[in-house]
Amino acid sequence: MIITIDGPAAAGKGTLASVLAKTYHLVYFDTGMVYRAVGLDMYLHHEAPEDENAAEKYASALTFTHMHELAKNPDFRSAIGGNYASIVSAHPKVRAALLKMQQDFSKNPVFEDGTPAEGAIYDGRDTGTVVCPQADIKFFITASTEVRAMRRFKEFQAKGLDTDYETVLADMKARDERDTTRATAPMKPADDAIVFDTSAMSIEEVLAYALKIIDERISA
Ligand code: C5P
Repeated sequence: MIITIDGPAAAGKGTLASVLAKTYHLVYFDTGMVYRAVGLDMYLHHEAPEDENAAEKYASALTFTHMHELAKNPDFRSAIGGNYASIVSAHPKVRAALLKMQQDFSKNPVFEDGTPAEGAIYDGRDTGTVVCPQADIKFFITASTEVRAMRRFKEFQAKGLDTDYETVLADMKARDERDTTRATAPMKPADDAIVFDTSAMSIEEVLAYALKIIDERISA
């Protein structure tokens, strides 16, 4: 079974995907990691993320092992990592170089220790439209920009990162703008996606809603 969960940053995709992965014994593929890995690799090598040809080289060389190594760096999830990821992900050559790696995973999903999985949960921006258009169930989750910025701000605060709400909100708006207006694979719901807004929903409500839909589909 392949489930895709797309939507903007801090809409609640990661939390939902992790719980669904455990519930249905699926492997969780956070596709933002591939763009964060390319962005962070460039940052660490003092490369400009705007340089598409340079970014393509890092994308072409990326492996799952290297991605997991880079994920240990504190800047992988910081504002720097997020901004570099957002910039490199707008390059068509980078998206093309990372597509096969993401698609191949759906044919042979494995957990991090190499154990085969019966399916995967993809989390990203274009996983229901471009990466896995054949997915069994597609969700598109959103929430207002202010709610998402506040969630991300609190996450940064909890990690002890030095930032303020206004900066997080401005970054969020810039990333949304790049994600929705880029020429290749812009963020949008697939035609057959189930779309919902989590602004006024608790985590428990989001989970209950998604579980109900999946269970109905499985038993149909
Ligand atoms: O989801 P996350 O914030 O980790 O993603 C980092 C960046 O990677 C996003 O801002 C987005 O621009 C990009 N991304 C993408 N397509 C995906 C997943 C993430 O363009 N499928």
